[in-house]
Amino acid sequence: MSRKRYYLTTPLYYVNAKPHIGHSYTNIAADALARFKRLTLGKDNVLFLTGTDEHGQKIDKAAQAAGMNPKEFTDKISLTFRDLWTTLNISYDDFIRTTEPRHKEAVKKVWIKLDKKGEIYTAIYSGYYCTPCETFLTDETVRNLAAEGKKILCPECQRPAEKIEESNYFFKLSKYQDWLIERIEKQDQMTILPDTRRNEVLGFLRNNKLQDLCVSRPKNRLAWGIECPLSAEHVTYVWFDALVNYISACGYGDEAAKEKFAKWWPADVHIIGKDILRHHAIYWTIILHALDLPLPKMIFAHGWWVQGGEKMSKSLGNVVDPVEVVKTFGVDPYRYFLLREAPFGQDGTFSEEALTLRFNTDLANDLGNLLHRSLTMCEKYFNGEIPAGISSACPGRLRNEVDHLPDALKASMEKLDFSLALATIWQPISIANKYIEDSAPWTLAKQGKQDELKIVIVALLETLKVVSQAVWPFMPATAEAIWKQLGIETPMDQAPFQNGLWGFFQNGGKVAKGAPLFPRIDTKKP
Ligand code: ME8
Repeated sequence: MSRKRYYLTTPLYYVNAKPHIGHSYTNIAADALARFKRLTLGKDNVLFLTGTDEHGQKIDKAAQAAGMNPKEFTDKISLTFRDLWTTLNISYDDFIRTTEPRHKEAVKKVWIKLDKKGEIYTAIYSGYYCTPCETFLTDETVRNLAAEGKKILCPECQRPAEKIEESNYFFKLSKYQDWLIERIEKQDQMTILPDTRRNEVLGFLRNNKLQDLCVSRPKNRLAWGIECPLSAEHVTYVWFDALVNYISACGYGDEAAKEKFAKWWPADVHIIGKDILRHHAIYWTIILHALDLPLPKMIFAHGWWVQGGEKMSKSLGNVVDPVEVVKTFGVDPYRYFLLREAPFGQDGTFSEEALTLRFNTDLANDLGNLLHRSLTMCEKYFNGEIPAGISSACPGRLRNEVDHLPDALKASMEKLDFSLALATIWQPISIANKYIEDSAPWTLAKQGKQDELKIVIVALLETLKVVSQAVWPFMPATAEAIWKQLGIETPMDQAPFQNGLWGFFQNGGKVAKGAPLFPRIDTKKP
């Protein structure tokens, strides 16, 4: 039985530097999905979680470099993420910081439960560690590099790894390898999407022997972490801390929040980038299983925005600042572009030229024009009064397309195929624009064919009403502006969104045209 509630999460971003386009991509996608779920399930049935990952050596080093203590530093950078989410209209329900008491308490409970169950042991760790990735290199990687006489570089980021030897706590990850392979093969509790990523995890698990996970760090090397309840000399490894956010935010280990936890866990989807797939698909799923908790229903690992053929990243310094892009193009066109341009799951190349092209064609020509022409005609021919009693006489093809839009959209949103979802919404937009040309309302007006003219105008307004609801998850401010111009007062997330919505203007209404939503960007060079 499917539950009538939806819990979705984004990664918790490191606060070693301010956010870039990559972080905004994940949160815009999550926001579109959260809004769509609010439209279809009701707004109280959605929990959208994001936040910041604030412990570990990387953050400690960044704070030192900025001449600040880690607490002040993380407060400052965490705020830049929140500010960006406000700018981009990201409607998260909860923002968790790993430095918050509620999270620290939950992490301690996880330690204690796993220890009681015999899932934790101590051992001397000796090996190579990549600080930027906060990950130990596997023995096999080190052996292969050494055999080839190569420098010991991190296979993920190609930066030098440090040799360390210390006493630590380990989580018995390896004993669950076969269990996990079976889960991923059977997809009986959890799906990993896209399929290429699922195959990648399976390939890794079939071809490599998992090592137990080192889940502590000695305080004398790194003090900036959550205290380990088993030892005064250790703090928690940053990933073992951060992953727990998905359960700490909804009340894990808190007696007073038992009902909340039962309501929301398991998550419906963890949306992440493909860079952190293994941490989620392997570490996190096994930790949950060892805690006797159900697995998330889906992990979706999206692709990267690349620049010059390389992943945009803080450390490579090839990042695009979303704040600058939205100053030029506006928030909604930016949101639209990211979700329309690259199929979710595949890599995308960001360029202002591509964004300008999408702006001028899809937004200015298609959606913007449809709205502007329709309202102009309604004002010109009917003084802005929407003719009543006409909806049912409107044409079959357009009406059929609009009537079935909610279900068509649902199919692509369930698979997080945002690009396809937007292409689906643009179908009725194109058909409506063509319908204007074909029915030539200006000629009908000249010929005094009032009844036919009414049908055309009302059909266009009915289309715009449903199309703007469908567009809302992707471009919330645009959708709300369209509703305002159509004279609709109901808040978007309180209006029903299902098949068969045609007929809203059966009793008439009044439109109030505003300035064009997407004035074309001039691409001619001076
Ligand atoms: O990994 N293209 O944090 P992080 C698309 N704290 N998405 C990108 C991207 C790009 N070029 N660059 C970053 C961490 N992202 C950990 C996560 S979760 C419990 C802990 C997005 O700040 C994408 O979602 O390095 C990626 O997975 C995430 O930012 C990594 O953010």
